[in-house]
Amino acid sequence: MGKLSVELCGIRLDNPVIPASGTFGFGYEFAELYDINCLGTISIKGTTREPRFGNPTPRIAECASGMLNSVGLQNPGVEKVINEELPKLRKCFHKPIMANVSGFSVEDYVYTCEKFDGVEDIGWIELNISCPNVHGGGMSFGTSAKDAAEVTRAVKKATKKPVIVKLTPNVTSITDIAKAVEDAGADGLSLINTLLGMRIDLRTKKPVLANRTGGLSGPAVFPVALRMVYDVSRAVKIPVVGMGGISCAEDALEMMLAGAAAVEVGAANLTDPFACKKIIDDLPAAMEKYNITLN
Ligand code: FUM
Repeated sequence: MGKLSVELCGIRLDNPVIPASGTFGFGYEFAELYDINCLGTISIKGTTREPRFGNPTPRIAECASGMLNSVGLQNPGVEKVINEELPKLRKCFHKPIMANVSGFSVEDYVYTCEKFDGVEDIGWIELNISCPNVHGGGMSFGTSAKDAAEVTRAVKKATKKPVIVKLTPNVTSITDIAKAVEDAGADGLSLINTLLGMRIDLRTKKPVLANRTGGLSGPAVFPVALRMVYDVSRAVKIPVVGMGGISCAEDALEMMLAGAAAVEVGAANLTDPFACKKIIDDLPAAMEKYNITLN
């Protein structure tokens, strides 16, 4: 067992670094650049029951130390993900995969999770109840402790895979939601999804994003994410995957000192497609420098 190895819900990872859903496609796209088997695992593009075109453009806006996105869960739907995307990933990635699942009703979530339950190399389901860019689903489940618990309970009955619930920071108390989800049977938590934000174009006087608002990610959100991971990991017994603005090995270690069992790297992949690989390569020296061990 290498010194970067960590355990996540009963499955061992070679290292704690996971590209975050929505920032790494279905993984195989990055295999042209480097051997993606160096990654802990990959959280694949958020998948819904039916295909989705996503939100109208523009759906990306830059800001200081971060970016806004309002992609709107563009994806080909669970059938195509299982039958067309995962076979391509499997050709270049030989580890358990994390399936990120979104929905618009409890039935949607259950349907998609049942489909992934039948796929052997899906190691975990990341239940995304925190997408801020769609109406009538996504984040609306994650902002109510009752709804978050209900969808978690229903999905737990539909799959034997470990269920990691992805939480939104756009709430008054993320620990209350975390505890409700833990009580409902979640095997782990991941946080934070993006922070709801907007920009206005001074020339047009209109919002930059066609959807008006979007989710803020990138280095700007790192201290917010760190605080939430710190609070949540002390409030629950299940493992927490920390994410939000991680862009170097030192950020990853800081997140793990806050209580994360593993980390997801998101926006950094969009500015440097080698970001995850660099973090993994840099971790041993950073651990040595700061005298930090994992586990
Ligand atoms: O709009 C999107 O596809 C973003 C999803 C998310 O933040 O979970």
